[in-house]
Amino acid sequence: MKKILIIGAKGNLGTALAEVYVDANPLLWDKDEIDITDEDQVIEKISAAQPEIVYNCAAYNAVDKAEEEGGVADMVNGYGPGNLARICDKIGAILVHFSSGYVFDGQKSEGYNEEDKTNPISAYGHSKRLGEVEVQQHAEKHYLVRTSMLYGPPTQGKKSFIDIMLDMAKEKKMINAVDDEFGQPTYVKDLAQALVFLTEEEKPFGTYHITNSGMASWYDWAREIFAVKGIKPNMAQIHSEGLKRAARRPKYGILNNTRFIELRPWTEALKEYLTK
Ligand SMILES: NC(=O)c1ccc[n+]([C@@H]2O[C@H](COP(=O)([O-])OP(=O)(O)OC[C@H]3O[C@@H](n4cnc5c(N)ncnc54)[C@H](OP(=O)(O)O)[C@@H]3O)[C@@H](O)[C@H]2O)c1
Repeated sequence: MKKILIIGAKGNLGTALAEVYVDANPLLWDKDEIDITDEDQVIEKISAAQPEIVYNCAAYNAVDKAEEEGGVADMVNGYGPGNLARICDKIGAILVHFSSGYVFDGQKSEGYNEEDKTNPISAYGHSKRLGEVEVQQHAEKHYLVRTSMLYGPPTQGKKSFIDIMLDMAKEKKMINAVDDEFGQPTYVKDLAQALVFLTEEEKPFGTYHITNSGMASWYDWAREIFAVKGIKPNMAQIHSEGLKRAARRPKYGILNNTRFIELRPWTEALKEYLTK
């Protein structure tokens, strides 16, 4: 089995990857072990470790805060991946990097194919696109995997959308959920298993869209969570334009998968997650 390094290993996806790779005894690094924005450190540590596959799950994911902290977002989501790309290229390692539907403007209701033109409409989207370009330019052997609406067991005390919805229902709060922004709720366990398949099968390098299949608005997703749990909180559908959020979001951040196996429907994955 190949020598695996998972960066951002304490995060949502990193934790799921660590579980699917447990028998391979991967190196698990997070902020305490490496700062991907520090190029000297990246070169030194990765040269010493000599991994064959590097999964970069480290990211700055605060979409609204990025409007004020665009420089930080660019460092972590853009130039950090560039540092990883250059060292992976030098030691011959494969780099698996992650991005998001937020690199698109979201005007295409039919969704976006892997090679469609990007056009980010937020500082976060801009930083993720910067990372894509850095990885594409500097790492010959790369998989650029765009994904959407990730969820899984809570990591580092951070609440997922699912936890927030269930907590609000428990507190009997009115739940206002956006019904005009669409994505693809994706179970990190399904994504992690798909990534093992992608790399073990040695699929061609390049860009992939990997999510659970189907699409949902935040309202659809919330409604399904409550249906599976058999609870009926007070819910209302709201439009995104009424919200006071710093960042704009794509209306249709839908990632069409035209070149990889189809994952199970998001409703099926959600049911397993919530009832296991
Ligand atoms: N979550 C989603 O819905 C979603 C949707 C589409 C795409 N993605 C992409 O999928 C990937 C994985 O996301 P995720 O949800 O698993 O992220 P996550 O849970 O936020 O995990 C990211 C991890 O990286 C660490 N980190 C941050 N800055 C770092 C640095 N400079 N050096 C090393 N580690 C650093 C974080 O530490 P701290 O927490 O201490 O900062 C955290 O442990 C990311 O590329 C993300 O953009 C996520």
